[in-house]
Amino acid sequence: MSDSTLHKATGKDLSRDLFLDDVVAGLTAQRKSLDPKYFYDETGSGLFGRITELPEYYITRTETEIMRAAAPDISAHCGDIRTIVEFGSGSGERSEILLSALDQASHYAPIDVSDELLQDTATVVQNAHPSIQVVPIVADFTSEILLPARLPRAWLGYFPGSTIGNFLPMAATRFLANARRMLGRHATMLIGVDLVKSVDRLEQAYDDSQGVTDAFNKNVLVRINNELGGTFDVQQFEHRAVFNKEQSRIEMHLVSKSDQFVEIDGTYRIRFRAGETIHTENSHKYTLDGFRALARQAGWSPVACWTDVNDDFSVHLLRGVAGPQHDLSDRERQ
Ligand code: AVJ
Repeated sequence: MSDSTLHKATGKDLSRDLFLDDVVAGLTAQRKSLDPKYFYDETGSGLFGRITELPEYYITRTETEIMRAAAPDISAHCGDIRTIVEFGSGSGERSEILLSALDQASHYAPIDVSDELLQDTATVVQNAHPSIQVVPIVADFTSEILLPARLPRAWLGYFPGSTIGNFLPMAATRFLANARRMLGRHATMLIGVDLVKSVDRLEQAYDDSQGVTDAFNKNVLVRINNELGGTFDVQQFEHRAVFNKEQSRIEMHLVSKSDQFVEIDGTYRIRFRAGETIHTENSHKYTLDGFRALARQAGWSPVACWTDVNDDFSVHLLRGVAGPQHDLSDRERQ
């Protein structure tokens, strides 16, 4: 099992307990749901890698294209940046264009919950950029993290991939306000944000013709079976991706094809009615102005924005609004 955290005193696997608690809470709620972060075990990360190469999934290749074209511009805006802090660096590679463009940066601090992935990322980046100091930070990037004071200022936060789309707008604001506090004085943030477009294109991007997204969605049930003693018959669930216009988000669900019971961990017995769904992911889509308004609410001032020719995707550069209410004091950093 990846990412297992054995508690020293009790010998218990804490990450399994947390996963189990979350799954049981999600599946016993009035409206069933599972946290999208559980998609990403080794199989899920592999499937996501295949998603990024699908013809229907424009997000990753469009962001890369924007980053390539905007790199000199971004570098010009970031003259004062010495450290790049990446939120949820995952399997790495996403920072390559930025690291190559920002000669002025001497340090790279990837944050991720997975120690294993972080070590891989650190090695890859270190080999490609021998002069950059890599400082991996094992942490949940949605929590308040005190970044090591030895990282030279100014600090640039990097949050690519439209991962912010997974958060409800309220949580997205909270994340950005938290990042603003973490990055401190002269904070800068570079963030990838997916944009609203035709319902057809959005729904196809999350329901591809090869069924890769279908397998990605169902992989969370496979994980529950393998890691939590679940008895899901995966064939009895159907992948569904729909654009919710009111909330401006793609929703992924797993729809129960029949009235059925599933057991988990030999103790829980959960009923699924025919047609009942498990809500597995939200992927919010913004307008340029909608995202700028959200950033302002979180203590950021939008200074530049780059898009592709079709306005499919956007990369925003934000500067922290000055003011002590947004900063962690140096005292708190000690
Ligand atoms: C990694 C959250 C940006 O929402 O597009 C891809 C995840 N889910 N296909 C997204 C995902 C289904 C992806 N993010």
